Amino acid sequence: MAGPKLVEEWSGLPDVTPIPPRQVETGACKENKLSGEEIDLTKLPIPWIHYGDGGRYINTYGIFIAATPDGKWVNWAISRAMLDGPRTIAGVVIPTQDMGKIYAQWKEIGKEMPFALCLGVDPAIAMIAGYPLPSGMNEGEYMGGWYQEPVDVVKCETNDLLVPASTEIVIEGLASLDEKVPEGPMGEYGGYVWCGKSQQVPCFKVTAMTHRDDPIMPLCVAGVPTEENHTNWGISIAASIQNVLRRQGFPVKECFIPMESAAHWFVVSVDRNREETDDDALALAIGKAVFASKGGSYIPKVIVVDDDVDPSNIGQLVWAIATRHHPDRRVAIPDQYIFPLVAYLSQEEKKDAVSTRVIYNCLTPFHTWPEGRRPVEASFRGYPEELQKKVLDNWKEYGF
Ligand SMILES: Cc1cc2nc3c(=O)[nH]c(=O)nc-3n(C[C@H](O)[C@H](O)[C@H](O)COP(=O)(O)O)c2cc1C
Repeated sequence: MAGPKLVEEWSGLPDVTPIPPRQVETGACKENKLSGEEIDLTKLPIPWIHYGDGGRYINTYGIFIAATPDGKWVNWAISRAMLDGPRTIAGVVIPTQDMGKIYAQWKEIGKEMPFALCLGVDPAIAMIAGYPLPSGMNEGEYMGGWYQEPVDVVKCETNDLLVPASTEIVIEGLASLDEKVPEGPMGEYGGYVWCGKSQQVPCFKVTAMTHRDDPIMPLCVAGVPTEENHTNWGISIAASIQNVLRRQGFPVKECFIPMESAAHWFVVSVDRNREETDDDALALAIGKAVFASKGGSYIPKVIVVDDDVDPSNIGQLVWAIATRHHPDRRVAIPDQYIFPLVAYLSQEEKKDAVSTRVIYNCLTPFHTWPEGRRPVEASFRGYPEELQKKVLDNWKEYGF
């Protein structure tokens, strides 16, 4: 399936009727149970991934599960975590993300946050855990709704969290409120390692570990495209934004985040036969709607094209940006929230998470030319559609 079709399908996720996970007695992840000093995370085959990394990354493709103190909101999300010691992990908690919001609720009541780190989950679970679903929605329930079948879950050994029963390795524990440990740097999805400087993050203290016999530990080698941040995450971000743009009634045809852009470009094509005539106003409104959405919070650059351009065709996209985008029609919006992992930011901007975001209007300006002198595409596609069809229908008869 072509990329934008995948995005289109996946954009329906927030609209499904959720089906809660089904708690079962036991599952593959309970085949082996370790507690106390039996647990030694340093024995896991955790690789040192990039030159410049600050340590070995125990989590790059597994999901963290955490719930609010009242248990109503259960979040599944992929978030990096570095090995700290035999029973401690350096967990990155970003306040604007759902795990950060849940962590803040535990902090408010002064209790450590129970967590489960599930390494080796079903591919669909890794896919949904990277989807920026609106806060408050439980990924496990939407997974059930998507497949029309509940996800089987089992209870953790040392807390009340429920984890997918098919998980390869489950690491349970408590995220400390005060104890901090060094984390990073790590090669990131933008394609760079910011060498030399670690940050202090909450210490995730391990209380139990369970695993399948001969478990498999998947890994994402984040970095220069293409890796799972650009495939899995990029498709999910684009899908979540497409859902928002459609709901707001924009004449959207296709959405895509080109893998080559390392999740820095969001490209949207719009109906060429749209009713709107003010292209600048349309591109601006779309860009602002993207930036205001949860998925769009990760996106610094929006590119708006007509729907003769396939947003996933990098050749067409480069051609459109080069030949249709007038520099005067670029809208730079300063002093915006910016996801601090965006690659090109200055040290100051990364620290403050504030920078400029930009909209590239690549809608063809050709309608401003007088009738009869308007440019058409200088290729077969430039001929009237009926003529193209006639040629294609008779192609064999021409002897080709
Ligand atoms: C392979 C992969 C790795 C990811 N790693 C991280 C990460 O280390 N930190 C992060 O903030 N988000 C990471 N993400 C993206 C988040 O999982 C995603 O944005 C998720 O929606 C954030 O959680 P939330 O929706 O619960 O706020 C990753 C996604 C994928 C697919």
